[in-house]
Amino acid sequence: MELEYLWAMSIKILLLENIHPCAQEALAEQGFQIHVEKGALGEDQLAAKLADYQVLGIRSKTQITAKILERNPHLHAIGAFCIGTNQIDLIEANRQGIPVFNAPYSNTRSVAELVLAEMVALSRQLGDVNNAAHRGEWLKSAKGAREVRGKTLGIVGYGHIGSQVSILAEALGLRVLYYDIVKKLPLGNARSTDSLNDLLTQSDFVTLHVPETPLTRNMMGASELQIMRRSACLINASRGTVVEIPALAAAVKSGHIGGAACDVFPEEPENNDQRFHSELQGLKNVILTPHIGGSTEEAQEAIGREVAHSLGEFLLSGLTLGAVNFPQVSVPPKDKNTSRLINVHRNVPGVLGEINGIVSKAGGNIRAQYLSTDIHMGYVVMDTEGDKPGQIFDQVSRLKTSIKTRIV
Ligand code: NAI
Repeated sequence: MELEYLWAMSIKILLLENIHPCAQEALAEQGFQIHVEKGALGEDQLAAKLADYQVLGIRSKTQITAKILERNPHLHAIGAFCIGTNQIDLIEANRQGIPVFNAPYSNTRSVAELVLAEMVALSRQLGDVNNAAHRGEWLKSAKGAREVRGKTLGIVGYGHIGSQVSILAEALGLRVLYYDIVKKLPLGNARSTDSLNDLLTQSDFVTLHVPETPLTRNMMGASELQIMRRSACLINASRGTVVEIPALAAAVKSGHIGGAACDVFPEEPENNDQRFHSELQGLKNVILTPHIGGSTEEAQEAIGREVAHSLGEFLLSGLTLGAVNFPQVSVPPKDKNTSRLINVHRNVPGVLGEINGIVSKAGGNIRAQYLSTDIHMGYVVMDTEGDKPGQIFDQVSRLKTSIKTRIV
């Protein structure tokens, strides 16, 4: 059996909260031992349970507190099989040398598709005619119903989701404009505008894809909505705080804004048992969805694959790309003739010199060395030739500055 596979078999991974089965399959294929539990665990229960595991996979319900991490310093990594990582004490995880991996862009396409559907739905007042038909009313009319072909779409925030929307919208025959605070390469025939106002005055649809920052808070208020073309539609599947809801409600009521689709709100129910309230409820041609932009089966599967892949790459090769709380290191696969030492250490002067001194005294030769640091932490992956990898490992792991050391 390959050495790497043998090493992998010694790693036990606990997956909680119904993580997509593809993650379990992908990790098991690499040789790791997997234990799955359906629900989340409380603080004490999880802290005790982790004694038997080196890696933990969670979704958004499990809280990873400092107490859990302090009681389990042997943890190698945490996989957050979701987008956000607020449920994890990232600072404490960093302090303990535990990288946290998530999948921030696995649901990009799902959001983009919802936006496309909403443009067509708003153009044909689908929400209203559908509701009427359910009530038994027959509202057949072409008045105010339009094709999206040939119209102008303005995308605010040309990142992962905005740029996907751009490509899909062009395929439907829309002309695409975008505005971003960072200079972005236009895709297809899209054109950037110099200002948000420029975009607003030219667009039949405006779709928002910016993060929540002090700059984007209430970025679409009364004056921005007023600048938009008469009867234009607004779509927000980014963050609830980006749109000033009372101003949007007023603009829809006055008829200046022809329709709106909102997937996110300044205040959202915490679960499906709570009631949802918004000033936008009951307004004409307004589509309200419960933050489902990224909630698809495909996105869940993509998250499962992506985080399982990141964990595998970290455990077997030492890559930390994509870790949200850790120095980033990208390394090539290990050469069969070398040993790979992975060390997390406190970021103080002289550590690398000490490590290199140990290798040199053991008669080893450093073939490659990859280092990355943050303010508290240094992370080094080192490939060495020589016949004393065990001695090097022992001495490096005993350094006062070492937090975690392993050989793969
Ligand atoms: P991203 O980080 O790839 O792109 C955001 C873009 O906005 C970047 O290009 C950035 O330069 C730009 N930007 C930032 N501040 C700006 C400003 N003041 N004006 C103009 N442009 C600005 O993010 P991604 O993945 O495209 O996500 C966009 C938004 O969608 C985020 O708010 C995210 O939380 C949200 N989202 C919503 C989901 C849902 O279920 N509805 C699911 C996934 C993401």
